[in-house]
Amino acid sequence: MIGKITGTGSCVPERIVENQEIAKWVETSDAWIRERTGVLRRHIADGETTVSMAAIAAKRALNNAGVDAKEIDLLIVATLSSNIIVPSTACEVQKEIHAERAVCFDLNAACTGFLFAYNTVQAYISAGMCEKALVIGAETLSDMTDWTDRSTCILFGDGAGAVVVEAGEGDFYPMIMHSNGKKGHALFCRSSLGKQREYIQMDGQEVFKFAVRKVPEVISEVLRSAQLTVNDIDFFVLHQANQRIVQAVAKRLKTEISRIPMNLMEYGNTSSASIPLLLDELHRGGRLKRGQIIVLAGFGGGLSWGASVLKW
Ligand code: UT7
Repeated sequence: MIGKITGTGSCVPERIVENQEIAKWVETSDAWIRERTGVLRRHIADGETTVSMAAIAAKRALNNAGVDAKEIDLLIVATLSSNIIVPSTACEVQKEIHAERAVCFDLNAACTGFLFAYNTVQAYISAGMCEKALVIGAETLSDMTDWTDRSTCILFGDGAGAVVVEAGEGDFYPMIMHSNGKKGHALFCRSSLGKQREYIQMDGQEVFKFAVRKVPEVISEVLRSAQLTVNDIDFFVLHQANQRIVQAVAKRLKTEISRIPMNLMEYGNTSSASIPLLLDELHRGGRLKRGQIIVLAGFGGGLSWGASVLKW
């Protein structure tokens, strides 16, 4: 058995923050942010929480798949920025959407979280341990952002995306995952459980160099393992971190940029929410067609990175 994505959904906060607004808070400019990142605006929570956005995205994905919440037997939320630690965000979503039969837990692999959660669901399905799952990526990074630090606050946004994965017959495609804890210093945030408020800290250049090297490498690795070539792939759905990273990956893979869709202009970097947000946009926009071969690729804090091939 393999898992097939049968529905997608997403939810972003109503409040939109344009680059020009950030330029009033820190020494930066719309031109610098556009040129160095590609981001034009992002959605920032104003009342919405990681749990509330995750639950709405989940309901929309269930509706899109035509699956009742009570049929879900596994629910994983990938997040690093929840408003609640115990119970898990996944259990809170379960309560909201009445997915009473589901086993629920959270997974933190930073910006690679959705990919790792999706791969985990595939492993559960192939082991016969689940039939219908919800995989959600949800973040409120604005709560962990130092809004006086121009090297990070220009990048991030809030939101949630969800997919329903159902067991069925089909070709098995490979999944590859990597972690390197020795490079954790490149992107970290200590827990705010102590007295001091903690914020995301990043060595942007180190993460940038890691991404442009490792993402093409892991995509090539997963394609080799699937006995496919770059030209067999309809879309490469990458974590949305920076337009220049996407362009560099396209160049290294020798593929047209049109096969690596982007929506980071509108949402910024939403960490584990970025891949399911983009999948939902592509699906609802009619760009994904059944039978297409897609590569998902994530990368970020940990450091962590990975890629999966799937047939839509
Ligand atoms: O989700 C995965 C995790 N994150 C990422 O993938 C992020 C990867 N890294 C990046 O996207 C980029 O490194 C950034 C967008 C964060 C930064 O872009 P950069 O081209 O690497 O800039 P830089 O850090 O090398 O800084 C270049 C210059 C510096 O000035 P000097 O030293 O050349 O005078 C910075 O002080 O730009 C300055 N700078 C800014 N200027 C205006 C840094 N941030 C800003 C800013 N506005 N917001």
